[in-house]
Amino acid sequence: TGGITTLDPGYKNTGSCESAITFLDGEKGILRYRGYSIEELADKADFLEVAYLLIFGELPTKGQLEKFHNDIKAQSHVDEDVKKILDGFPKSAHPMGVLSSLTSALVAFNPSSVNVDSEEEMYNAIVKVLAKFPVLTAWAYRKRAGLPLDYGDNSLGYVENFHKMMFNRPNGNYSVDEKVTNALDKLLILHADHEQNCSTSTVRIVGSSHAGLFVSLSAGINALWGPLHGGANQAVVEMLEAIKEDGGDTHKFMEKAKDKEDPFRLMGFGHRVYKNFDPRAKIIKKAADEVLSSLGIEDPVLDIAKGLEKEALEDSYFVDRKLYPNVDFYSGIIYRALGIPVEMFTPMFALGRLPGWIAQWREMRLRKEPIGRPRQVYIGETHRDFKSIEKR
Ligand code: SDX
Repeated sequence: TGGITTLDPGYKNTGSCESAITFLDGEKGILRYRGYSIEELADKADFLEVAYLLIFGELPTKGQLEKFHNDIKAQSHVDEDVKKILDGFPKSAHPMGVLSSLTSALVAFNPSSVNVDSEEEMYNAIVKVLAKFPVLTAWAYRKRAGLPLDYGDNSLGYVENFHKMMFNRPNGNYSVDEKVTNALDKLLILHADHEQNCSTSTVRIVGSSHAGLFVSLSAGINALWGPLHGGANQAVVEMLEAIKEDGGDTHKFMEKAKDKEDPFRLMGFGHRVYKNFDPRAKIIKKAADEVLSSLGIEDPVLDIAKGLEKEALEDSYFVDRKLYPNVDFYSGIIYRALGIPVEMFTPMFALGRLPGWIAQWREMRLRKEPIGRPRQVYIGETHRDFKSIEKR
């Protein structure tokens, strides 16, 4: 049935929701966007097609995709004054903090994007943020790298243009192997939506107060930043590097991850929903092998990751708790191979998740859902009388 479940009427107050966008089966390791399997989409579609599918519910015709892309290109200018806000950040600022701030700031330059009630007004806000977010992401990277900011080349595809905005050099000798942009496209598809995860729930609940799309997305970016969520892709590579520096003893780190006294967790392992393999992790692991070998890159960190995974799959602590590699375990290894610095890994997750956040926000608004208002189980003091300070 595609996983339609009936929630009890009280669900409106629990933060759960009904959605027709993404279906997960955590036991069977199934992930589908609008009914299409992630395996097929990762293999046969491109990122902009998948973005259209998630947001509007159907795979686009050639004409629809062309119009969608043209509408996005027409909005790819970011007001020059946004650069003044960017200038205010120290070079050391984490790009996720820069991105959430600049995404919020877009409201000031696009006030019509706030009160969007009609589908047309929503569409205009959607194409604006799909156009400007890649620019802001590239700017956040270039600011740290001390590079001049540019707007890329609208004659290119959506992902190709993003790559050029990131890596174009002032002396102009930019070129890219299509294996790189194909790998990037696949990674973005794999991150595009994932049901009611922490950051998507944040976008929906902030959006449910009709605060507007851009600030709802900014809230989602902040939620994604956490190392227990999207920030894990950066934490995984930092962990693998630490294991490598420490001599590559994966067993020592496995034991550490079991120590209840130690807050250390095996980053990239475990998932609230998947109690079987995360299907995305399987695809990314295969892609990591393909990308590194096709680019002739030997990365010892990939071997450490595989060693860690093998050990965990044979270790009762992990097997009993159904802890398998998740989407973040191998993604950073590919980003590295594509020349993306580690502090940009989570912004790449945000760029991939953007269409999913937008689709979920649009669904919530079109369904005219009430303002989110989760309830609680009160576990505090029962009633008691006030005591003057002398008597405390
Ligand atoms: C993402 O929700 C989504 O869909 C998210 C996401 C998406 O696409 O949006 O899939 C993206 O966020 C993936 C997850 C990335 N985060 C990490 O890789 C960080 C490491 N993982 C863990 O922090 C943890 O597994 C979570 C946060 C992902 C899930 O946490 P849960 O479901 O709350 O699990 P839990 O904390 O209840 O743990 C259950 C048991 C505990 O042991 P016991 O108390 O039963 O003895 O498993 C242990 C935990 O200590 N455990 C781990 C572990 N994850 C859980 N032990 C060691 N290493 C880990 N990674």
